[in-house]
Amino acid sequence: MSKQLILALSKGRILDETLPLLAEAGIVPAEDLGKSRKLLFDTNLDDVKLVVIRATDVPTYVQLGAADLGVAGKDVLLEHGASGLYEPLDLEIAKCKLMTAGIDGAKPARARRRVATKFVDVARRYYAEQGIQAEVIKLYGAMELAPLMNLADEIVDIVDTGNTLRANGMSPRELIASISTRLVVNKAAMTMKHERLKPLIARLAEAVERRR
Ligand code: ADP
Ligand code: PRP
Ligand code: MG
Repeated sequence: MSKQLILALSKGRILDETLPLLAEAGIVPAEDLGKSRKLLFDTNLDDVKLVVIRATDVPTYVQLGAADLGVAGKDVLLEHGASGLYEPLDLEIAKCKLMTAGIDGAKPARARRRVATKFVDVARRYYAEQGIQAEVIKLYGAMELAPLMNLADEIVDIVDTGNTLRANGMSPRELIASISTRLVVNKAAMTMKHERLKPLIARLAEAVERRR
């Protein structure tokens, strides 16, 4: 195994919050990530490279060892499952909630509740735990539209300000999980590259701590 470390970053809103935190931990991309179509980047540290990929792909890269570490939302980690991964650090960024939500004042749902979400495994587990029969419908975005179009009785989605729900005549119902972004590490790398990973994780932990 090479001694080089590959860190997988989630694109999108997590990336915007990750880069300042990395900088505070002394890790700076060698070029502007936003201005490039490249996916693999050098950093100021000789032995650390970054890949910038879809948030939902980060756990896969890290689990299979293509990346040694990754930055991913807890929602994505809950949906993907944690096998092959350590989660040593809460980066305390991109905080939000995973919730059920529905149309304000909607009639009680039918016996078998139709639930639209991109978090199908999380939703199945949640409704099973609640003893609620649910038919889970997989969507890839704009979950808030599903109840309005009578595609579903309820959704499971991320809520932050609640603006998206409100703008669509919906309200949050039950909290499934509080979400923030986590550092994940490949289990084999944690052993094989421990000497290099340990100080890197420590620097990130210090950066998180300084923000408190
Ligand atoms: P995607 O295209 O997969 O939705 P985003 O960039 O919107 O990508 O979000 C990726 C991650 O950011 C989510 O997995 C979640 O952890 C977090 N997140 C999503 N929506 C919000 C939000 N409204 N406020 C804060 N964090 C959010
Ligand atoms: C996320 C999430 C909600 C919204 C919640 O969507 O899926 O729709 O943010 O935030 P709020 O409570 O502050 O309104 P996003 O903007 O990421 O759109 P997409 O993932 O569907 O592209
Ligand atoms: Mg999104």
